[in-house]
Amino acid sequence: MVNSVQKAGASPAQWSSRFAFIMAAVGSAVGLGNIWKFPYITGENGGGAFVLVYLGCIAIIGIPIMMAEVMLGRRGGKSPIGTMQVLSRAEGRSRGWVGIGILATLASFLILSFYSVIAGWTMPYIVSAASGELSNISAETSGALFEGLLASPGQLLLWHSVFMGLTVLVSAGGVRHGLERAVTKLMPALFVLLLILVGYATTTGHFGEAVSFLFRPDFSSLTAEAVLVALGHAFFTLSLASGAMMAYGAYLNKKVSIVRTSFTVAILDTCVAMLAGLAIFPVVFAHGLAAGEGPGLIFVTLPVAFGQMPGGSFFALLFFVLLLFAAWSSSISMLESLVSHLHERGISRVKAAIGGGLVAWLIGITTLLSLNVWSDFAPLSMFERFEGKTLFDLYDYFTANIMMPLCAFLTAVFAGWVMKPEHSAAELGQRWHGVWYAVMRYFTPIAVLIVFYTNLG
Ligand code: PHE
Repeated sequence: MVNSVQKAGASPAQWSSRFAFIMAAVGSAVGLGNIWKFPYITGENGGGAFVLVYLGCIAIIGIPIMMAEVMLGRRGGKSPIGTMQVLSRAEGRSRGWVGIGILATLASFLILSFYSVIAGWTMPYIVSAASGELSNISAETSGALFEGLLASPGQLLLWHSVFMGLTVLVSAGGVRHGLERAVTKLMPALFVLLLILVGYATTTGHFGEAVSFLFRPDFSSLTAEAVLVALGHAFFTLSLASGAMMAYGAYLNKKVSIVRTSFTVAILDTCVAMLAGLAIFPVVFAHGLAAGEGPGLIFVTLPVAFGQMPGGSFFALLFFVLLLFAAWSSSISMLESLVSHLHERGISRVKAAIGGGLVAWLIGITTLLSLNVWSDFAPLSMFERFEGKTLFDLYDYFTANIMMPLCAFLTAVFAGWVMKPEHSAAELGQRWHGVWYAVMRYFTPIAVLIVFYTNLG
């Protein structure tokens, strides 16, 4: 349902139903994080043990934090920055807590800048699939195709610009405008397509190998850094610590159960990531590709799988279109924290979206160049941890491994220690509040701190 109240920018408008919120939140959560990032970081971090830690982070840190963010968003009813202003005042606490809103808004904005570049990659693949170029493609040709794309700043710029334009377009009109309807159809379609891909993957003869790679943990190969990467990715994939869930929570009807809804969103998101892993690794092993290949993993691997399937060009086309949509419904939510905040300050959504999109687009250009012209430019190489990291690597590292854990830590402290328990209970309902509250106070902040500490040490 299109909501005219929001268009006029008056009092908070709401999602048309619980289902609509779930779809929008799943639209935000499911994206490149599940299909592009999860497989490649799993490959880089050795598989099973990493996956287990990641699943643990989702279950015991991500889900409670999601409940906290949606709860805060709904209670504050504003943009993440506005919400934190309202809530710190309502709780009679320092205005400094607005920092959570600011940190979240900055993180999602920075993510958007590089996310748009990666999402742009789907478009030349759509073109290649449509032209039949991918049919029977060999692993080498597929690798060369991908290398060719990365080596061309002009192409990357074109697709980055188109993607950012698409994001701004929806954001300017108001996120519930159209998004609800589109996501309700496209998310299930993506899910079905992934199932088809997994079905194909079982025929490669390497499915068992992939399953044991993904699910048989070998803890001896797990590093402290991998644990931090898993934690950061749990936030990234669930769109937490970035204002997205808080901003969407502000539009959530009071009658909807936050606990149930958060579980649903997290479970669906996790299923998509697992399916992506099961679709990709059998193909990786069957063609002797490297699991630790890096950010190009799915773009090199999947065309090979599609190229050999009956009707592969069609499925490839469909897949990259759906991946584009999944990324789009995520990027819209990244811009929402900033746009809704600027809108509260009297700037029209159109201006806010265009202005925000433009700055993110400019920052995105530095990411795009770090894939080719600036690929040797590693500005923080004087620190061992950042040695050899390009600008793109650094944006990714800072957002997922530093800003998001920090923001989640502060959110947990606010929700568990600063906010009165009667207030959080009023949103979450008595039934689950006790458990959630204990987790928020004693578990989440400490767990995040430990991961941080062991990493520094
Ligand atoms: N969750 C999205 C994905 O997995 C990324 C995202 C991060 C979206 C932060 C919004 C905010 O692709």
